Amino acid sequence: MSLAQFLADLDALVERAQTTFNSADSAEALEAARVEFLGAKNGQLKSAQQGLGKVDKADKPTAGKRFNEVKGLVESAFEAAQENLSGAGEAASEAFDVTLPGKPVRIGRLHPITQTIREMKDIMGRLGFTAVEGPEIEDDWHNFEALNIPLSHPARDPLDNFYLGTANSAAAESDSPLLLRSQTSTVQIRVMENTKPPVRIISLGRVYRPDTADATHYPMFLQIEGLLVDKGVTMADLKSVLRLFFVSYFGGGEDMHVRFRPSFFPFTEPSVEVDMNWTDAAGNTGWMEMGGAGMVDPNVLRAVGYDPEEVTGFAFGLGVERICMRQHGITDIRDLYQNDVRFLSQF
Ligand code: DAH
Repeated sequence: MSLAQFLADLDALVERAQTTFNSADSAEALEAARVEFLGAKNGQLKSAQQGLGKVDKADKPTAGKRFNEVKGLVESAFEAAQENLSGAGEAASEAFDVTLPGKPVRIGRLHPITQTIREMKDIMGRLGFTAVEGPEIEDDWHNFEALNIPLSHPARDPLDNFYLGTANSAAAESDSPLLLRSQTSTVQIRVMENTKPPVRIISLGRVYRPDTADATHYPMFLQIEGLLVDKGVTMADLKSVLRLFFVSYFGGGEDMHVRFRPSFFPFTEPSVEVDMNWTDAAGNTGWMEMGGAGMVDPNVLRAVGYDPEEVTGFAFGLGVERICMRQHGITDIRDLYQNDVRFLSQF
């Protein structure tokens, strides 16, 4: 074989080997290519080596040198292909498959009572009432005395209140017993003590009474308290504010009415029970009791240093849970506080 022919065959071999190694797309294909070119028995390199014997003696050194170079080239082409392939494998196993469904993130939701609170603040805010807070641990003055509830009044009964310290009547009648507030009306006093009229506030918060829990009672519940004191405030103002509040909250219209029934609260005169007309799912209509209200008693205005000849005011106190339950058709107040996610996630 001529030297030229031998060298040309080698060049062709390198090219074939490189193409074959590079196009091997799996470990199996690469192994087959290795056997084809580098196989010890019938590999193409082996055949080329055998061709070396047929080259003229004088050309042998040149042919042999080139053969070694080509062998090196074929081997490194194989190694490079091997590396590429395993690198691609690693990359593939590490790669993030963007088409896989994601792990769902469980987003919590607002408790129905929290939703109700926010909505009430929002509605009353639009009616010009500022939301204020008061302490849940109260003293005798703010929970009773300033609200015109005298020492002899049954509302002060230790059995009806969570007095702190010794829960007996002696503690209740001591100079200034502390208790968990039994009503948000306390905040009326706190605000009026620190502000000159006009006053236009709501206070939303927890109150505590030693009731046994049943479908409609819970020893802790929430009230929304409203207070408006200004010159010339009348019961007509009270009724229209309450009606606007109910209309906004429940989404009613012209057919929504507020009914006042005569009642008694020590801190209002006159006092009323507030009812709202209601149509249930079956179409039955009736009145639903929402809370208490009235015109702020002159004694209360005097207790905070206001002049009842100069200003008048109205106040109301409504049960927050009752309103929330009515809105959602919840029939047991205890469901609101058991915090069973299966229940709460419905709202
Ligand atoms: N504080 C009363 C209660 O807890 C509710 C109430 C009645 C609040 C009349 C008022 C009101 O502001 O004017 O039963």
